[in-house]
Amino acid sequence: MASNKLSCTLAFGAILCLGFAVLIQAQNKPVTDVCLGCICEAISGCNQTHYCGGGVCGLFRITWAYWADGGKLTLGNDSPQSEEAFANCVNDPICAANTIQNYMTKFGQDCNGDGGVDCYDYASIHKLGGYGCKGELSYQYKNTLDQCLATFSGLDVRGSF
Ligand SMILES: *[C@@H]1O[C@H](CO)[C@@H](O)[C@H](O)[C@H]1NC(C)=O
Repeated sequence: MASNKLSCTLAFGAILCLGFAVLIQAQNKPVTDVCLGCICEAISGCNQTHYCGGGVCGLFRITWAYWADGGKLTLGNDSPQSEEAFANCVNDPICAANTIQNYMTKFGQDCNGDGGVDCYDYASIHKLGGYGCKGELSYQYKNTLDQCLATFSGLDVRGSF
């Protein structure tokens, strides 16, 4: 009896704990999936072929400094200090996306002065950095982003992008 009661308490605690973790995770993910997909589309055509060149890697074209600011997330048994940790993480769609979420949690801001923080701001921050996001975006990047958001924002279950 006693052990049954204990395992029930443990199970209940685990569920509560899990619920709380999901809540915390949601709060730390400012960027919607549609926004992530459109940034990916605009910056690389969402090309998932492993890529590093010109100081950036992966389908989101992330720099080492961006990855470091995003918490030095790693894949598998990689140590954050290892040579390959950065390229391995940002070439993985999930690890790259989590890096972006962390970066935006830190640097999210109203870059275009429209009174809100949305995907247009996140896309500027992604391309220009947390301290330069009020700058100009290339026509190609902005145009692809606009078209992608116009096409897919209606599908976002979380509503506003
Ligand atoms: C994806 O990237 C690779 C490596 O940079 C390139 O060789 C390939 O042509 C690209 N694919 C598309 C569809 O652009």
